[in-house]
Amino acid sequence: MYSEKVMDHFSNPRNMGEINDADGVGTVGNIKCGDIMRIYLKVEDNIIQEVKFKTFGCGAAIATSSMATELVKGKTIQQALEVTNKAVLEALDGLPKVKVHCSLLAEEALRAALWDYAQKHGIKIDGLKQPKTDIGEHDHGDDDEDIY
Ligand code: FES
Repeated sequence: MYSEKVMDHFSNPRNMGEINDADGVGTVGNIKCGDIMRIYLKVEDNIIQEVKFKTFGCGAAIATSSMATELVKGKTIQQALEVTNKAVLEALDGLPKVKVHCSLLAEEALRAALWDYAQKHGIKIDGLKQPKTDIGEHDHGDDDEDIY
């Protein structure tokens, strides 16, 4: 049912955790299942130097976030915007249809984190719209809740 790549990223997720002094943080919820995803970014000279995620999501959300963070690490902001859920799904050799909504969390949280970064640094990122789903918990890591 799941590809080997999905199973690998689910069993050994890359970039799971948080960044305490993140430059941008995006938190989104999945309207279909109520799960939550948060992505943290460190950006320097327009390059994503570090990226981490935490989630209340299912295995498919973990695998897609793991792959999405791998795909954007070391990339420019413009390149990161090209990492859509479709690109992530392709990199994972697909997901069962009923789990595709889970893959949206990574793309949306990434965009929300980039939006947060742009807001905090007073810049405009071409092609990036204000995320509708950002639930706005920009506490930069001093969580009192655990969302792994
Ligand atoms: Fe909620 Fe997968 S079921 S993210």
